[in-house]
Amino acid sequence: MSELTPMMRQYRALKDQHPTAILLFRLGDFFEAFFEDAHLVARELQLTLTSRPVAKGRRIPMCGIPHHALHSYLRRLIDRGHRVAICDQVEDPKQTRTLVRREVVRVVTPGTVIEDDLLSARENNFLAAVAPGSHGWGLALADLSTGEFYATEGETPAHLSETLAGFRPRELLVPDDSEAAAFVMEDVPATPYDAHRFDPAAADRTLREHLGVATLDAFGLSSAPLATGAAGALVQYLRETQKGPLPHLRSVRMLPRTSTMILDDATQRALGLWAHPRDAGAQDTLLGVLDLTETPMGGRLLRRWMRQPLLDPEEIRTRLDAVEMFVVTAPVREALRTHLRAIGDIERLAGRLAHEAGTPRDLAALRNALEALPALGPILTSPPDSGPAPPAAEEIRARAAALAVPPDLVEVLRRGLVDSPPLSPKDGGLIRPGFDPEADRLRAGSQAAREWMAGLEAAERSRTGIRSLKVGYNQVMGYYIEVSKANEHLVPREYIRKGTLVGAERYITAEMKDREALILTAEERIAAREYDVFCGLRDAVRAQIAPLQAAAGAVAEVDVYAALAEAAVRHRYVRPRLADERVFRIVGGRHPVVEQAIGVDRFVPNDLSLDPGGPDILIVTGPNFGGKSTYIRQAALMVVMAQMGSFVPAREAEIGTVDRIFTRVGASDDLAAGRSTFLTEMIEVARILTQATARSLVILDEVGRGTSTYDGMSLAWAVVEDLHDRVGARTLFATHYHELTELASQLARVANAQVLVKEDGQDIVFLHRVAVGAAASSYGIHVARLAGVPDPVIQRAREVLAGLEAASASQRSPRARRGPSRSRQLPLPLPLPSPVEEALRQADLSRMTPIEALNFLSTLRALLEAGASHGPPQRASGRPGPGGERPDSTVIPFPSQGTPRRT
Ligand SMILES: Nc1ncnc2c1ncn2[C@@H]1O[C@H](COP(=O)(O)OP(=O)(O)OP(=O)(O)O)[C@@H](O)[C@H]1O
Ligand SMILES: [Mg+2]
Repeated sequence: MSELTPMMRQYRALKDQHPTAILLFRLGDFFEAFFEDAHLVARELQLTLTSRPVAKGRRIPMCGIPHHALHSYLRRLIDRGHRVAICDQVEDPKQTRTLVRREVVRVVTPGTVIEDDLLSARENNFLAAVAPGSHGWGLALADLSTGEFYATEGETPAHLSETLAGFRPRELLVPDDSEAAAFVMEDVPATPYDAHRFDPAAADRTLREHLGVATLDAFGLSSAPLATGAAGALVQYLRETQKGPLPHLRSVRMLPRTSTMILDDATQRALGLWAHPRDAGAQDTLLGVLDLTETPMGGRLLRRWMRQPLLDPEEIRTRLDAVEMFVVTAPVREALRTHLRAIGDIERLAGRLAHEAGTPRDLAALRNALEALPALGPILTSPPDSGPAPPAAEEIRARAAALAVPPDLVEVLRRGLVDSPPLSPKDGGLIRPGFDPEADRLRAGSQAAREWMAGLEAAERSRTGIRSLKVGYNQVMGYYIEVSKANEHLVPREYIRKGTLVGAERYITAEMKDREALILTAEERIAAREYDVFCGLRDAVRAQIAPLQAAAGAVAEVDVYAALAEAAVRHRYVRPRLADERVFRIVGGRHPVVEQAIGVDRFVPNDLSLDPGGPDILIVTGPNFGGKSTYIRQAALMVVMAQMGSFVPAREAEIGTVDRIFTRVGASDDLAAGRSTFLTEMIEVARILTQATARSLVILDEVGRGTSTYDGMSLAWAVVEDLHDRVGARTLFATHYHELTELASQLARVANAQVLVKEDGQDIVFLHRVAVGAAASSYGIHVARLAGVPDPVIQRAREVLAGLEAASASQRSPRARRGPSRSRQLPLPLPLPSPVEEALRQADLSRMTPIEALNFLSTLRALLEAGASHGPPQRASGRPGPGGERPDSTVIPFPSQGTPRRT
């Protein structure tokens, strides 16, 4: 170490303080990474790895980022979950002869980003901290960019992951001792952090000190030690990474445990609530349809409401009242939305300005937003000139009051800051003339000196009588008076010789020297003064952070209400009726996303009716592509919409509030591709059966697909029985297992529904209409034909099917084998399947290419031949068929070549 240069020693010392972060070290116009960091940065950012000499004959790896491009590279590092310590020069290199002092000015981590260009405007950027305890957990969440700060507690790990799913944090702080691993979330980088910081007593001190209070009672934290632990650790971490105070995190809100519906991550995905903006198909989500907000604040709030729908019918009605007000008064809604467009992101602007990171442009943007704000209040409270007066919506009136911003602040920003200031606060040109006497004086002094200098030539010519006298300026000499050699005798005595040219002499005077000094230093002094004034303005913003945050919150809410109203009008939604009972009645319901994708006119609306007296489990059967998944998902989406306070895509809707939506989407239908194995499917089923309550809504799509037909069907059967007998949750189950329709005749509250198709010769027409009853057949082969599977394969498949059906009919005929209807015996209509049957059933015909279909066919043939000569292998060692007998038909029932099925 000692043979390192002083600068590398400086680097080492700083790096030692931040061992877990990539240290970017300011060197001239670059931020450099050294050693392992250099390798990492070069790899992640695909930059060239270079090296730097540090001692005689020794070079170390180095990788540099141009300082002006820091943000774009930083974004990529943060997105990949890295932490970056930014080390800058903290003194002017011109002012020092020794090594420039450098310090880590900030540690940027995924959860502590505040720079505008590193954030996505419509997403909150939450940092979460989890404090595990012996009987539960505490959780704290803060968005440094907006100043929101929450804490909560709970018992089960499942509840924790659900709560986290509602906030989608970007980074998770966990104690650096052993238990931490249990809390790591998929997709979210975990940061191990000093476990002592999570200690409730230490955390309590940190929080009290930070919030400036003697006790945490007012925040509801005094009886919540784990939440306190998490919140304290979070604040401490923020202080360390931000290297400064956190004036806008000025209060922490304890979240009640069960005020919102639980939508776990899998459900959010399965229902297509939202997608990452960078993903393809982000538009084809509920969010894509509903997000008509005009401000980033509104956009963030809408997302939060969507991920955390309400439970209390009263609270929901309050939101619906507000939405309805904007639905019925189009002029108010339109005027409001137009005005909202002019308002930027007050919340984040104020957050950044409170935080020293705010630039003059942020200040100007905040000023412009605040100037636009006062127009909103009157729109909300006074009736429009034409049209009906808005109905009383308490929620809106309350918001209108909060829209008042401190008038002094707007005034001072208006007078103080030029219209479009530069990005940097340190280069001057940002304070309006007439605002600060000192800056004005400096400017006037410099101006006067320039004018004096400009007039000097004429004045001196007439004073000295030297007609060719010239006043000039150059970098080396500064200002000078030039007199030709011929006129040298006329030069006044007070001229001081400065230099000699071939035919002329150059002079300066004492007065010129003074003016010159004024002119040359004025710019710097003005810039320095302007910077001080700017800091004063920023302090003025910081002093008003509370009313600014309140105004931002009010804008966000009003924006969301108006956006939901706009969506309701554009897409013809109705106001849902919220009920306490467990009803679920929809007339003319539509899928909000599919109807936009295929065209509103082409979408076939469907009804749904579940109620406590009648059936509340619906088994939906029908052909592939018939609309089963769409139907059951649209029901769930309507619940989400209604409980977040939105109108719903239906002609009429009555919904008894749902405490939680569970979804299990089977293997072939899982949109989050590739994640689904039979094991994960069963884990989810287990979760549903242990967690669902009578108030839950359960959406099951093709459960059981991931295993053999018989296992899958048996499991599905048992799951429905359990939901019916014990759980009592409203359930919609789409399935290809036609056998499950039998359940309706055995269980009181199970009913069948089918998606209708019309047969037209060999073709079928999908009607997408849902009706009572069980579907007759699967039409898989029809769908395969639609998908372009070649005719010979289709023809052959029909023959195979006919053979299978004939065989199964002959075995099924003695219906007595099913036993008494409530015997809970699974009435399996087929004997145990042969390998060929099994392969056929499992084949996803709709996704096969023609080549795959042909290969599949030859596999079937091979299986058949193997089976005919040796008998089917599974059978020999397998279970006996129903009733214990082993039917003769272990010989695979296969139609002979050329037997046409159709008659
Ligand atoms: N009510 C409807 N009106 C019009 N088109 C619809 C309707 N429902 C579904 N569709 C269309 O039919 C397609 C298939 O629907 P969906 O995926 O719900 O069928 P499915 O019965 O679940 O099929 P599979 O059995 O293959 O899973 C949808 O992509 C949509 O375009
Ligand atoms: Mg489906």
